[in-house]
Amino acid sequence: MSATLLDKKEISENIFLMTFSRSDKSLIYPGQFLSILHSSKEKILRRPFSIFSCSEDKVSVLVKRIGGGTTAITQMQAGESADILCPLGKPFEEKIDFTRTLFIAGGIGIAGINSFIRETKQIKMIFGDREGEFGKVIDFLGIECIYASESGLNKRKGRVTDFIGEFDFDTVVACGPKQMLRGVKERINGKRYFAVCEEIMACGVGLCNGCMVKYDDNTFRKVCTDGPVLDGNRIVYD
Ligand SMILES: Cc1cc2nc3c(=O)[nH]c(=O)nc-3n(C[C@H](O)[C@H](O)[C@H](O)COP(=O)(O)OP(=O)(O)OC[C@H]3O[C@@H](n4cnc5c(N)ncnc54)[C@H](O)[C@@H]3O)c2cc1C
Ligand code: FES
Repeated sequence: MSATLLDKKEISENIFLMTFSRSDKSLIYPGQFLSILHSSKEKILRRPFSIFSCSEDKVSVLVKRIGGGTTAITQMQAGESADILCPLGKPFEEKIDFTRTLFIAGGIGIAGINSFIRETKQIKMIFGDREGEFGKVIDFLGIECIYASESGLNKRKGRVTDFIGEFDFDTVVACGPKQMLRGVKERINGKRYFAVCEEIMACGVGLCNGCMVKYDDNTFRKVCTDGPVLDGNRIVYD
């Protein structure tokens, strides 16, 4: 669909909340994502982003500028349009008991987690980054959480996995870099684990096999159509 950029806010250096118009009426489930093809077509591949928040006529994404595609997208001005496929990914329909679930986000993985916690901010959560660069994003979201920073600057020093022992939980939902997802698996002793994967992908709709992850029984899952929420205990994190 062609979507118009309605609003762009730079929440922190290189991190933008971008809100687009939406005309489809599909239900959007936690963990689902959309893909944006910038109208300049400078970068031919679509770029996937977690659906950060949505309403009947708007959809927002939190974009971290890291390369050509995200630079072109974050340079858009309100009123410009882009081609957006939304929603993508398998609807996640498991019941989450917020009182028994630990949410873990690493860096821009906070965008994937936000879609699970839209209904309540009363959650158990650990957020981690390298140098406190997401401080303004966490303030913007108004979430009470353990904020772990590898540099320790004004935060708890360490990695997200160092703080898991402080919580009583039976389910984990985590989104972040692959090494973080692996570290979580190693520390939760087989508790129920939903990993929101952000594997590099191309088509986003199940056609190219570019986003396969391996399970422990040597079968494969496509992040774009079987996920992005997958069984974190079964993924083989190479
Ligand atoms: C399901 C899903 C949800 C995502 N949600 C978000 C989101 O909400 N917000 C957000 O900012 N980003 C998100 N991403 C990542 C985002 O799509 C990439 O950052 C983006 O595609 C990079 O495009 P680029 O052209 O700017 O960078 P490129 O020039 O393509 O790449 C720049 C560098 O980043 C690396 N890179 C590219 N894509 C990824 C990736 N997926 N994971 C790790 N490294 C990567 C490249 O290898 C390269 O080193 C998501 C990815 C997926 C698959
Ligand atoms: S990105 Fe093409 S199959 Fe998943």
